[in-house]
Parts: sequence; structure tokens; C-alpha cells
Amino acid sequence: MITDFEASLIKKMFELSQLFPLQFYWKLILTHKNIIIMDKKLKDQIAIVTGASSGIGEGCAKELAKAGATVVVNYPLPSAQAMAEQVVAEIAKAGGRAISYQCDVSKEDQVKQMFGDVIRQFGTVDILINNAGLQKDAPFTEMTLEQWNFVLGVNLTGQFLCAREAIKEFLRRGVNGKSKAAGKIICMSSVHEVIPWAGHANYAASKGGVMLMMKTIAQEFAPKKIRINSIAPGAIQTPINHDAWDTAAHLQSLLKLIPEKRIGQVEDIGKAAVWLASDDSDYVNGTTLFVDGGMTLYPGFEDNG
Ligand code: BGC
Repeated sequence: MITDFEASLIKKMFELSQLFPLQFYWKLILTHKNIIIMDKKLKDQIAIVTGASSGIGEGCAKELAKAGATVVVNYPLPSAQAMAEQVVAEIAKAGGRAISYQCDVSKEDQVKQMFGDVIRQFGTVDILINNAGLQKDAPFTEMTLEQWNFVLGVNLTGQFLCAREAIKEFLRRGVNGKSKAAGKIICMSSVHEVIPWAGHANYAASKGGVMLMMKTIAQEFAPKKIRINSIAPGAIQTPINHDAWDTAAHLQSLLKLIPEKRIGQVEDIGKAAVWLASDDSDYVNGTTLFVDGGMTLYPGFEDNG
């Protein structure tokens, strides 16, 4: 990635080269160096990505930063601080801007504090990637109330608390010229907002809840030019589903559920998040974008059922 300064320098040189018959050579050089000058779609926008110290959140943070956003890399506990700082360092090395911020999204006071601090430091928040999520799997009759509450607390209540603070700020600020919208929220859902998942009742319930919370608040705030959508990832290669891809045999059986026959990567989700956060998707509101290699296409019917 190149910095804004480098991009403007190269652009200037490219413009000048049009005066002379050098353009062809410039194009060759630029292509050779694999430098593609693009308008950064999220330039100057402030994004909070929850649960960004690893996995899908990390992927989203990096793609948003590449698109020009200043990213708050949220992490839940002191134990994840080093990982979050590593993400921030990698973003900075690539020419992006980021800070790390610890906050347990299931705690109302901490969420309020995080939004307050970010708004004080950067002036506002333009984008929320409501990503923090976890699994505590158990057969239903053995699932403890603690496991149930823990997963619902982070995956659903956490998204509610963050969305509420983000929307308050979007309403206060209104459209600010950086985007056609007053603000954008992307809720990280899952294919399990529609695919039932035995042994994961708490997780599936949380994602089903995310789906209707997202649609309901999208309906409520679309008139205020706030866009709220979800991404429903399928199997993305991250620590959360390590057991599904750690051996060749496990991966083989996972791939039976994915028509594209490949496991997803965090960049697949990060790029979708950039699109949903940018004005390219300005007329998209209240929808779930499935990024799952076809996992929701009833793969059992691939071979005549
Ligand atoms: C879960 C993963 C799982 C994937 C597909 C995700 O929401 O977190 O563990 O691999 O859905 O089943």
C-alpha cells in the first residue's frame, strides 16, 4: 500500500507525463511496480471495528484502513492487547492509520466510554463494524445458562449497545460530506442466521437475533440517511472454527458444505465490508450479504439430492 502523499505525487507525475509522449512508459512502470492509483473509498472516515484483534475483525480493520479509513481496533480483554497492537502496527506499516482500544462490548459503561473517547479523539465515528462474537458450544440439554448468556451477551447485546451509541452519534452529526450517508453500520452475522446448527443453539439464536435487530433499526433510521446491513460469513479460516480445518480430513468434510470448494479468507469479508461501508452501496439498506462460497445453497442437492 502507498501513502496518500505518495499517491498524490505519483498522480501529479502521471498528469505531467501526459504533456509529453511519455505516458506509455509511465503506464508500464506503474503496472510493473503494481501500483494502482485508486480513489480511497473511505478516505478520512473514522471506523470502529469491534473484536478486531484477530480473525474476521482483523481482516475488516486492514481492508478498511487500505480504503483510507482511520480504524479503531477494538479488543475485548487485556490478554488480547498484544494482538491488537500487532494489527495496528501492520496497518501503520502498510501506510494506514489505526489505534487499539480495549472494551468489552457486552458492558454498557465500557461501550459508552469507548464511543465517547473515540469521538473526543477523532471528532466523530462514521462506520461501525459490529463484529465481536464468540462461540461456547454444547449439546442443548447440557448447555449452561452461563454459556447461553455469555454468547448472547457478546454477539447480540454487544451489537445492540454499539449500534445504539453509533446511531446517536450519526444523528447528532448528520451527513458530513465524507459520505452520502450520515453513518454506516455493518453487523457481522453468520450463515447461521438462517441455517439451524445443532449443538450451537446459543450462537444460532444470537445470529438470528442480529438479523432482525439489523433489519428493524435499518427500517427505523433509513429516513435519517443511516445505512445498516449485515454480512453473513460462511466458513472463514479463523481461530473460531479451527477444528473444522486443522486436518486434511476435517477440511475435506467441511468443503462438502461449500459449493465453491474452498474455505473463505478474512479478506473475502473485509472487501465486502468496505463495499457496504462505501457510497458504492448507497442504495443498500437492511439487507444481509451472504459471503459464504454458496454454503446457503443447500449443497446436499449438488448431486441430485
Ligand atoms: C461460525 C464458524 C462456522 C461457520 C460456518 C460461523 O458463523 O462461527 O464456526 O465454521 O459459521 O458453519
